[in-house]
Amino acid sequence: MRSIILAACLALVAAPSLADGDAKAGAAVFRKCSACHTATEPANRVGPSLMGVVGRPAASFDGYSYSDAMKAFGAEGKVWDEATLSEYLLSPRGMVSGTR
Ligand code: HEC
Repeated sequence: MRSIILAACLALVAAPSLADGDAKAGAAVFRKCSACHTATEPANRVGPSLMGVVGRPAASFDGYSYSDAMKAFGAEGKVWDEATLSEYLLSPRGMVSGTR
């Protein structure tokens, strides 16, 4: 199961650039995320809303109670872009030690 999710995430993030991305494939992959996230509403679930996440500073979505680890990561000035998302989705705890 873990390797299936990892493969799906790789498929999602391995596109050479966002402009070359496959929105249909991305929507299919995002079903795995939607248990905890919405990307179409400014609503927090188990995880923060991912609406407009690309270009957004980490741990900055209003009203979400981030872990101390994610808050510290955001305080370092980290922004979610192709590079940071690619690394985070492969290994959330590898990148943000102690994240929920
Ligand atoms: C089991 C629930 C769960 C699933 C499934 C999940 N996430 Fe998350 N996600 C979370 C939680 C909880 C946080 C907040 C982490 C913290 O505060 O340490 C989070 C945080 C994030 C963040 C940081 C957001 C911010 O505002 O800084 C991103 C980006 C993210 N998730 C992307 C994804 C993607 C993309 C997927 C699907 C491939 C996914 N997540 C699947 C629970 C989940």
